[in-house]
Amino acid sequence: MIKQAIIPLAGLGTRLLPLTSVFPKELLPINGKPGIEYILDECVDAGIKEVIFIISKKKEMIKNYFYNDGFYKKIIKQKKDPRIKKEYQKIIRYRKMIKFVYQNKPLGTGDAVLKTKRYIKDKFFLMLLPDDLIIKKNCSKSMIKIHNQNKFSVMASMNVRKKTVSRWGIYKMGKKIDKRNFFIKDVIEKPTIKKAPSNKAVIGRYIIPKTIFKILSKIKPGKGHEIHITDAIQSLIHKQNKFIGHNFSGKYLDCGSMNGYIKSSLEISKL
Ligand code: UTP
Repeated sequence: MIKQAIIPLAGLGTRLLPLTSVFPKELLPINGKPGIEYILDECVDAGIKEVIFIISKKKEMIKNYFYNDGFYKKIIKQKKDPRIKKEYQKIIRYRKMIKFVYQNKPLGTGDAVLKTKRYIKDKFFLMLLPDDLIIKKNCSKSMIKIHNQNKFSVMASMNVRKKTVSRWGIYKMGKKIDKRNFFIKDVIEKPTIKKAPSNKAVIGRYIIPKTIFKILSKIKPGKGHEIHITDAIQSLIHKQNKFIGHNFSGKYLDCGSMNGYIKSSLEISKL
């Protein structure tokens, strides 16, 4: 069973500047609710019991969001507003499942994941990238279901336009399993159009084995001089670990870019 999830939150969020110059993007409201709460709700609904947040000193506001008891208690006493009480109770519920670890230098997603090494208990864990919202269907839940059938690793996949492949991690497909799932033969971080083996891109939901930490502790920086989780996953695939690509059925919202962030509120308001 997958009971632990990790969420890397230590990136700089430069694509959302100036919104992110003092404010973490994960707390920005999407249709009236901080983005990170959608991700936490997905985890809870998928049966996750513990979530590890990888933050940085610069993003401690995220921790403060969940630990503002003094303020809430005072306001609840003064205002007796049931809505505020309910919101506070929700925040306490979230907090009970969250652990914080620090990555103070944003060296890349792979380095962020490595910071959680000491806390991962089981053979596999879930990772969610909070910029990638998937609505209408719980992608993590579907992926856990697939994992439970065979204990293979699973990663979310989506078809992207060929001319945009250099922005994504791209899969080389192996054998098709069924309509939505296929074996991953390889994965390449941000390939050129010429070198891209398909137009199937990695989206931010991963079920990965604990053995990845061994690779992460040795891996060298890749594209853009960052330590990419995709490069460590590629190494696992080359070592014959089985990875399944899952073409999820929900709707993908890219909240890490300005256009996508603006659109996401509109899309969620239609639900
Ligand atoms: P991105 O590279 O897509 O986002 O990282 P970013 O760095 O936050 O934003 P831009 O590109 O400057 O606009 C994907 C996820 O990995 C986390 C980010 O917080 C984001 O959730 N991340 C990235 C880390 O935790 N540590 C890193 O070193 C890099």
